Amino acid sequence: MATLEIRDLHVSVDTEDGPKEILKGVDLTIRSGETHAIMGPNGSGKSTLAYSIAGHPKYTVTSGSVTLDGEDVLAMSVDERARAGLFLAMQYPVEVPGVTVSNFLRTAKTAVDGQAPKLRTWVKEVRGAMDGLRMDPAFAERNVNEGFSGGEKKRHEILQLELLKPKFAVLDETDSGLDVDALRVVSEGVNRAKATTDAGVLLITHYTRILTYIRPDFVHVFVDGRIAEEGGPELADRLEAEGYDRFVATGA
Ligand SMILES: Nc1ncnc2c1ncn2[C@@H]1O[C@H](COP(=O)(O)OP(=O)(O)OP(=O)(O)O)[C@@H](O)[C@H]1O
Ligand SMILES: [Mg+2]
Repeated sequence: MATLEIRDLHVSVDTEDGPKEILKGVDLTIRSGETHAIMGPNGSGKSTLAYSIAGHPKYTVTSGSVTLDGEDVLAMSVDERARAGLFLAMQYPVEVPGVTVSNFLRTAKTAVDGQAPKLRTWVKEVRGAMDGLRMDPAFAERNVNEGFSGGEKKRHEILQLELLKPKFAVLDETDSGLDVDALRVVSEGVNRAKATTDAGVLLITHYTRILTYIRPDFVHVFVDGRIAEEGGPELADRLEAEGYDRFVATGA
């Protein structure tokens, strides 16, 4: 059982006019096996939270804490965070020219585990995971995300999740741009990862559809850099029906 704890997190981003505060005191606790959905209007800071947990250099934590089983995550480098068991599937995955999916996955696995995976079982595992995600084996020899369609990039993110087996996974709009079949396939991948590793999942989404496949234990409404309301799965349905007016109107 592991715990990821975010306490009163304040984060700024550097702009041409100086630093701008985006996160204004985020409190969130995720335990192994739990699924937390974060919903909220565009620009409310959801991706900023994801990047801050992962350690993106563009974001400066000005106060607050992030701990994993009591260990200070904010003091860790990006690769130390990955080794500690944190994983981020980005909203807009980046291209890595000149690096094949196959090499990328093996390098990442070696870095995260601290030792190279045994070749025979590894090759089998990669094939099995790609098969489960309905990915053509030819993808293994293509450069990471180069020319991938939106949906293919998202499958590749979940492929990493299944193979790297993190303790906590932050999935930033993994469902955006997926066709109905891909949404199901990708959701099944997340559920497989959860079932085999008991990972805690932070699922950022705009849509309730993915939440019918990946059932959240908690739903958090993110507004203007902080959590404005929390509830169970029923809160997602309410947001879909009502939108965010009542939060924005009250200046929450
Ligand atoms: N370099 C920057 N200069 C100015 N504002 C910035 C900069 N980087 C981020 N921001 C602002 O930070 C806010 C939060 O952005 P973020 O990407 O976290 O939102 P989000 O909740 O993920 O939105 P979406 O639902 O559209 O993905 C936005 O208003 C964005 O414009
Ligand atoms: Mg975002």
